[in-house]
Amino acid sequence: RTVYVNGEYLPETEASVSIFDRGFLFADAVYEVTSVLGGKLIDFDGHAVRLERSLNELGIESPISKEDLLEVHRNLVKENGIDEGLVYLQISRGADSDRDFVFPDTDKVKPTVVLFTQNKPGLAETVKPIKVISVEDIRWGRRDIKTVQLLYPSMGKMMAKAAGADDAWLVEDGFVTEGTSNNAYIVKGGKIITRALSNDILHGITRAAVLRFAREAQMEVEERNFTIEEAQEADEAFFTSASAFVMPVVEIDGVQLGDGQPGPVMTRLREIYLEESL
Ligand code: PDD
Repeated sequence: RTVYVNGEYLPETEASVSIFDRGFLFADAVYEVTSVLGGKLIDFDGHAVRLERSLNELGIESPISKEDLLEVHRNLVKENGIDEGLVYLQISRGADSDRDFVFPDTDKVKPTVVLFTQNKPGLAETVKPIKVISVEDIRWGRRDIKTVQLLYPSMGKMMAKAAGADDAWLVEDGFVTEGTSNNAYIVKGGKIITRALSNDILHGITRAAVLRFAREAQMEVEERNFTIEEAQEADEAFFTSASAFVMPVVEIDGVQLGDGQPGPVMTRLREIYLEESL
C-alpha cells in the first residue's frame, strides 16, 4: 500500500512520524474518514469543510490546501486501486523538540499530514443488523471537533463485544448522544428522530446528507434528544457514518426492536443515500 506523509508518497513500510509528534503524545490531532464507492470519493467537500473547522477550533493552521488534499485523496485511491473503501486523513500539531504540554510557538509548528487508504470490497452491499448496548458518555465536552482521542469510543466497542453486542450508544444525562463512531437515530410512526447538533456530538457528514435526502423525500425529521427507553419502544433504529452509510440497529440493551429485521425507513434511506452518492 502506498501512503502519504508530509508531501511524500511512500510504501507503508517506509513511512514514519516522529516519536515526539503531538498526535502520538497528546492526541493533539484531528482526522477525517472519507468513503470511496466505485473509485469515487463520497462527499469530499463535506469532509474538507469539517476538517478545516476542527483545525480552526484547535488553532492548527492547515499546511495543505483543499485542492491539494483532494489530489492526494485521488492519487492514493488510484495508486492503491481502491474501488470500495476508505481514505483516512490525519493532521496533528506536528513534532515538538520535546514533550511539553504547552503548544510549540506558532512559527515552529509544522503540522504532520498522514493519509492512507483501506480497501473494503463489498462496502455498499454490507448491511449488518447491529445490536447495541448503552454505556455512559464520559468523553470530553467538544465532540464536535473530530480529534483522534478515540480511547473511550474504542473501550465502548470492547464493552459491547464483551456483552455479545456489536456497538455502544453513549448516554449522557439520560439521553443518547451518539454511537461510538456514528450518529444515532430512531424511527417512530414514520418520523426520523435524531439528536440536534451541538458540541455534544460529531456533526456527521453522512447525517447531514441523510437528513437532507429524507426531507427531500417528504419524510418527517425531528432533531431532538431521545432516551434508551424511547429507542427500545421505537419502530426502528439505525446509525450513520462514512464507513457504514446507514446501518440498522435491531437490539438495544437486550431488547429487540420490532421483528428484529432492518426497518423500511432505514432501508429506504440507505437506498437513497447510495443512489444519490454514486
Ligand atoms: N467516525 N460520531 C462519531 C463519534 C464518529 O466518530 C463518526 C465518524 C460519526 C459519523 O460521522 P460521518 O458521517 O462524518 O462519518 C459520528 C468515523 C467514520 C471513524 O471514526 O472511523
